[in-house]
Amino acid sequence: MPWTVDDLDTPAVLIDLDRVEANLGRAQAYADAHGLRLRPHIKTHKLPELARLQVELGAVGITCQKIGEAEVMADAGLDDILLTFNLIGRAKLTRLVALARRVRLGVAIDNEIVARGLSDAMAGVGLELPVLVECDTGAERCGVQSAEEATALARIVAALPGLRFDGLMTYPPKHRTLQVNAWLSEAKAAVEAAGIECRTVSNGGTPDLYSAHQVAVATEHRPGTYIYSDRSLVAGGFGTFEDCALRVLTTVVSRPTDGRAILDAGSKTFSSDTLGLPDYGYFVEYPQLVLEKFSEEHGHVDCSASNARPAVGERVTVIPNHACVVSNLFDTVYGVRGDRVERAFKVAARGLVQ
Ligand SMILES: Cc1ncc(COP(=O)(O)O)c(C=O)c1O
Repeated sequence: MPWTVDDLDTPAVLIDLDRVEANLGRAQAYADAHGLRLRPHIKTHKLPELARLQVELGAVGITCQKIGEAEVMADAGLDDILLTFNLIGRAKLTRLVALARRVRLGVAIDNEIVARGLSDAMAGVGLELPVLVECDTGAERCGVQSAEEATALARIVAALPGLRFDGLMTYPPKHRTLQVNAWLSEAKAAVEAAGIECRTVSNGGTPDLYSAHQVAVATEHRPGTYIYSDRSLVAGGFGTFEDCALRVLTTVVSRPTDGRAILDAGSKTFSSDTLGLPDYGYFVEYPQLVLEKFSEEHGHVDCSASNARPAVGERVTVIPNHACVVSNLFDTVYGVRGDRVERAFKVAARGLVQ
């Protein structure tokens, strides 16, 4: 008997493989058309199988945020990995050196303390670790604050043993591609004026994936969420619900009042991340239902705006606001085509915060 979605217990995470392939193919075609290298961030899927598919389709390598994620990907044969996180402390640096011995590894940093720690760890290993200087082009997370600071840090990296300055990296603010391009162009020119080669300029993010060519100075782009998309991206104008490949299959377990339904999926399934939206997800079969709040194991649904209302026992699918955090909460996700379950994936890089 074929394995179908009806055979799955709930809550379960469904990954529509046709949509995944379409999302990846479209992005790779865009990147190829613009001479841009793709280095997808694996934070969205956390699956070695899909990282391999991204590389097979043309990605030059992958991006990871945490060493543990990179270790899982290296174990699965991914051999070109950028770690976009300031790595601090002996435990992580020991693992970094072990990883650098077995894959092409690069790191991003934004300060001298991290640079010196990396250099101390790499000195004597007989390898040069490529280092990108992270630039805050407006997103106000990590990153040096000016072209002058980028140049000063590039000089330090270039002079330190065990390290090789490779270029610049940013996680950009949304919808400010021209500002990002101006920032990075000025920084690249300043670094080069100091006599330091700047081979890579790594930009990222899904919201501006299809205008990434406007950041003309960038040599590579690191999209993450584009593989699954999610409700926050659709709300922000990126694609439609048809592009959303990750859905949560959940069962209505109670209808305590006419206006309320309760799901068997709460914050342990969806997380509490709204990404700035007023509620938590989009009901594919009942677009007027509102996923208004969570207990750990209960999803509270306001049915009052919907004429059609699900019955107890009915299974509904929800596109979550933020796909990446849902991937992180499940041991297994199911690859589906239509109603057929093609395979179960172990989410091998979930939960790896170190
Ligand atoms: C450093 C870095 N690069 C790339 C990405 C991918 O961004 P997105 O999920 O918008 O595609 C992220 C997301 O958090 C990130 O932190």
